[in-house]
Amino acid sequence: MWDAVTNLPVGSSQAFKKTALLFSHMKKFDLVKKEIEKILPNSPLAEELVHARLVLKWLLKLNPNAGELLQIAALAHDIDRAFTGITEKDLKDYSRINEFKKEHAARSAKFICKILDKQGYGKKEIEKVKRLVENHEVGGDKESGLLMAADSIAYFEYNVPFYLKRNGADNTKQKIRFMFNRLPEKAKKIVQKIKFKNKEVAELFRETIGIMPDVDAYSSPESYKKFQNLRPDYAKAIAKSVELAGKHTKNHSNLVLADFCCGIGSNTKKFADSVGGIRKATLVDINAGFLNKAKESKIKAKELAIKQTDVLEAGLDKECDLVFSIFAYHHIPTEKKGKYIEKIKSCLKPKGLLILAEIYLQNKLEEISYYNALFNSVPKNKVVPGLKKFLEQTAKSNDFEFKVSKEFADKQFLEFGFVKLEEYKIWPLKDPSNPSRGAFVQVYRAPAV
Ligand SMILES: C[S@@+](CC[C@H](N)C(=O)[O-])C[C@H]1O[C@@H](n2cnc3c(N)ncnc32)[C@H](O)[C@@H]1O
Repeated sequence: MWDAVTNLPVGSSQAFKKTALLFSHMKKFDLVKKEIEKILPNSPLAEELVHARLVLKWLLKLNPNAGELLQIAALAHDIDRAFTGITEKDLKDYSRINEFKKEHAARSAKFICKILDKQGYGKKEIEKVKRLVENHEVGGDKESGLLMAADSIAYFEYNVPFYLKRNGADNTKQKIRFMFNRLPEKAKKIVQKIKFKNKEVAELFRETIGIMPDVDAYSSPESYKKFQNLRPDYAKAIAKSVELAGKHTKNHSNLVLADFCCGIGSNTKKFADSVGGIRKATLVDINAGFLNKAKESKIKAKELAIKQTDVLEAGLDKECDLVFSIFAYHHIPTEKKGKYIEKIKSCLKPKGLLILAEIYLQNKLEEISYYNALFNSVPKNKVVPGLKKFLEQTAKSNDFEFKVSKEFADKQFLEFGFVKLEEYKIWPLKDPSNPSRGAFVQVYRAPAV
């Protein structure tokens, strides 16, 4: 005799019933996973199945105890594409992205609910998966937040080259921004550590997010500031830059300044403080976290313009009396350095002033020996954990550091019509073997036209 409700022999023990129930649940879960995995390859996106598996992998890394329903949502969150064929290529106007994503999530929820219903999942369980999948793009509660984070990490780990190929660089930048900005800090750190094998993707990520995976300190304004201020080349170059900017400018309450690759804006702040305030400061940097810090730093300027962008793309008016380029020129790839100088020229008034602080080194060997000597010059009692790694990463970076010789830079600024007014070697001062190697502060005047 069989029990009509449990489908087990009448008189089965409680323990037997429990085990049988668990077993039938595992079987359902397995069947659902198999069905999803069979459907996903029907998607027009070749990466669909691998992506879904990676989302599940990251979900379980972020929370090894993630339950069965959350795991199902992870695997099935994009399942609608396998049924409808609708992808972001069908989104003609990117400003509609949020609506589009909402519709996509709702469609996926509908499809997975049907599968769960067929496999005998209960109403409450189906409702839960529905809610998780519907919210996978936006989060909202702890579990959908985890799903959203796992989705983004998996996207960065695997999908970007596919997306780029289908949608082009501009849309990919928007997508990168969307997928990154929605992440909680912990997940952002995981993404920042991803080493993109595809050079174009690495460049797009750098341009969009502005944080270099190969120098950790750029992911936090606090650690960046802490490390930089310990460096004798950096600290002395900033002090000299501020002093020279004050010496070569006048009428400060009416002065307009642009700070190229401003970091946390501390140079502009120091200068504005030292002259009792200025009229306008435009801060340009690619790193949103740094700019947030700059915004809060109470710079003494009647007007403050913040531009989070690749400096080469920044829209700037020809209104500046002064440009700061402080440890910035070497972050611009060598073949684009000319465009960078053009950008400085385009925002400086005729005969405007440029303060250029730079480190001139000719090759990787010189860089490694420079940063080694720099570390050794920091008094032992001032060394903080992470400083050595920061300097080593900076020396070795291939993605973010494009240092050139002083001869190269001097010639290039001259070619663009800049006139050098004065220059100072900052560090190392005891290096007679090569006087043009090291950190310098140079003062230039822009051409008269
Ligand atoms: C060495 S830091 C110098 C920051 C600041 N000038 C200072 O002295 O503290 C370099 C800065 O350049 C920014 N950066 C690098 N490449 C950039 C780019 N292409 N466009 C805008 N900012 C960039 C980084 O985000 C970083 O804040």
